[in-house]
Amino acid sequence: MDGSFDEECDYLFKTVLIGDSAVGKSNLLSRFAKDEFHLDSKPTIGVEFAYRTVKISDKLIKVQIWDTAGQERFRAITSSYYRGALGALLVYDITRRSTFENLTKWLREIRGFSNTDMVVVLLGNKSDLVHLREVEIEEGQSLAKLENLCFMETSARENLNVESAFLQMVTRIHEVSSQKILEAKVANGLESKQIGEGKQIIKIDVDSEVSATKQISCCIQY
Ligand code: GTP
Ligand code: MG
Repeated sequence: MDGSFDEECDYLFKTVLIGDSAVGKSNLLSRFAKDEFHLDSKPTIGVEFAYRTVKISDKLIKVQIWDTAGQERFRAITSSYYRGALGALLVYDITRRSTFENLTKWLREIRGFSNTDMVVVLLGNKSDLVHLREVEIEEGQSLAKLENLCFMETSARENLNVESAFLQMVTRIHEVSSQKILEAKVANGLESKQIGEGKQIIKIDVDSEVSATKQISCCIQY
């Protein structure tokens, strides 16, 4: 798949995969983009990209995914990863507690560099390694609730929840974007009416799609 914007696509969303080294970011991506898993994958150097087109509601969305390197020495140009990103999958490894503890650092980085509307989905990866578990599901759920993130446990190896994780992020981005577009339209409408009539608008009708969007909060799944 190439990186250009397809004429047939309705939207192009930039998203990022972040988290400590070896938590499984590249394998989550290769599972989602190519349905591949590599037991012997090498650490990512700098950043890599992949694309996949998905259909959400009646819209065709091209998702551009930046797979960043977890290793500290590659993180000098971090701000460019976040520029223009609408969503992030923040990944930890359920078998290594340190990767969960480092989430505070990652969340600080996300908030420092990204747009406040960025959709963040927290993923506890390697759920197939139950016998090596160091982080309980409830701990992931609590952190997600506290930080207002979506959450699920995944296994790139066994292909558990990988599709759902990406689709949930894209769906949420679509909802947030639609809401913003509508708000902009309403604001423009207000402006032109105020200019035209010289008085305040009394009533604004919002369609059912937006009402539904407003009711959706975050989702916890595992
Ligand atoms: P960096 O590129 O260094 O940031 O690491 P990464 O987060 O991209 O990790 P990567 O995908 O390269 O995976 C690291 C190791 O974990 C590899 O040996 C993978 O095979 C393994 N791995 C990834 N996902 C899973 C999973 O769901 N289950 C199991 N058992 N192993 C996994
Ligand atoms: Mg990688």
